[in-house]
Amino acid sequence: MNKTINFRGVKFPNPTVLASGILGVTGDSFKNVVRNGAGGVTSKSVWLERHEGHPGPVMMGTEHFYINAVGLPDGGIEKAKEELGKYLEWKERAPLIGNIVAGKIDDFENIAGQMQEIGPDIIEVNISCPNVEDEFGRPFACSTVDAGSVTKVVKKIVKNIPVIVKLSPNVANIGEIAKACEANGADGLTVANTFGPGMIIDIDTAEPILSNKVGGVSGPGIKPLAVKRVWDTASAVKIPIIGMGGVLTGRDVIEFMMAGASLVGIGAGVYYRGAEIFEEVNEEIDEWMKEQGVKELSDIVGKAVRK
Ligand SMILES: Cc1cc2nc3c(=O)[nH]c(=O)nc-3n(C[C@H](O)[C@H](O)[C@H](O)COP(=O)(O)O)c2cc1C
Repeated sequence: MNKTINFRGVKFPNPTVLASGILGVTGDSFKNVVRNGAGGVTSKSVWLERHEGHPGPVMMGTEHFYINAVGLPDGGIEKAKEELGKYLEWKERAPLIGNIVAGKIDDFENIAGQMQEIGPDIIEVNISCPNVEDEFGRPFACSTVDAGSVTKVVKKIVKNIPVIVKLSPNVANIGEIAKACEANGADGLTVANTFGPGMIIDIDTAEPILSNKVGGVSGPGIKPLAVKRVWDTASAVKIPIIGMGGVLTGRDVIEFMMAGASLVGIGAGVYYRGAEIFEEVNEEIDEWMKEQGVKELSDIVGKAVRK
């Protein structure tokens, strides 16, 4: 049985990837998830300069969903150089996806160039953050023009490694945003970021629990919504997809792959099952492959979409 996935020339030992923003803070936390079986790791979103997140409380989970408003806190690209550098020196490492974010199109060019110098295997562009130059502060991911422009500037500066764009699920037609990214040179897409915004209220105080009042929703409850976004994206474009949203088990990974994902991200799942989730999910995939007589896991990518 073979679980390796070749994603635009980058070889992943299995399809599970640590999603951006979860444990992805230090070189040591990356090593920890790879020792626990992750096929690859994604850094949290890196800004050009230090970026303050929101004050606490910033996250909460129930058995059904997870909500967060961490506000993308980050030490900036200089700090990322140190931490990602420590991981990249490690001989047993799995592929590293360097996730970048900015509030202006020009800043994407700058941060992409600097991220490339650090040496990740793939650059992931988070376009779910509000465009500060847009009159309404709409996220880049909500407009075909903005999503295409960001893709274009990043592709212009990044040479030799794939550039993938992380889409927002909160759009009327994710296929058209995906197509705009593909047309501007994206090598792949990540589908998707958190849903929302959502809100949770403390009924004893009648106040929203998160200090930011609203947050992005992830975890088990969003899985069917995320699978549909992956299906819609796979139906619209030819470039490969990293699917994610509510993955807890090996069967969830297989479902995302059948909807069209080549790799599958695990975010909130780490809070539900610990870092061991990667090893356990891989064992569950093995069991399913054995039961079904599947020898090559990559053969199932898009199987449900092609029918
Ligand atoms: C606490 C937390 C922090 C996150 N931070 C980032 C981030 O820095 N950049 C990003 O692109 N996505 C971020 N995400 C979104 C996840 O990478 C993922 O797209 C989303 O949570 C759906 O997957 P899940 O249901 O497996 O968590 C974050 C999610 C959580 C729960």
